[in-house]
Amino acid sequence: MTTNRTFTMLKPDSLEKGNTGAILEKINASGFRIVAMKMTHMTKRDAEAFYAVHSERPFFGELVEYMTRGPVVAAILEKDNAVEDFRVLIGATNPADAAEGTIRKLYAASIGENAVHGSDSDENAAIEGAFHFSGREMF
Ligand code: RTP
Ligand code: MG
Repeated sequence: MTTNRTFTMLKPDSLEKGNTGAILEKINASGFRIVAMKMTHMTKRDAEAFYAVHSERPFFGELVEYMTRGPVVAAILEKDNAVEDFRVLIGATNPADAAEGTIRKLYAASIGENAVHGSDSDENAAIEGAFHFSGREMF
């Protein structure tokens, strides 16, 4: 079964560079409706839990450091085929491999600092959305 929601974070580098508005504009223009949104600063514990699937990877320490060095914009997005379409919109993990016009091609600096997060499955979209938002914060 596929659902019509995905979860995203504009990562700290996007906020530091002043790219928040441009990225949100691109998300809206691509047909996603914002269901929930907030700025939040994750603690080390938050980031370790959020990216627990990567805890054994060599880049885990750097990833946690990066994701906690400043606030992020967290959001739940709605669109038909949301998870897959949003992964297409953000582009490959490494911006060097990302297609022209994708958010990572336009705004990411490197594989480690790549501007945005996008859920990789419907199941993870639901888990990640619930990690950041209560039911009363979804509209
Ligand atoms: P995300 O979960 O943030 O949407 O990214 P993704 O699916 O495209 O990539 P994933 O494999 O889930 O990796 C999560 C994040 O870890 C950082 N990373 N660094 N230095 C490296 O080799 C490396 N590889 C991954 C990136 O911030 C990546 O988005
Ligand atoms: Mg991922």
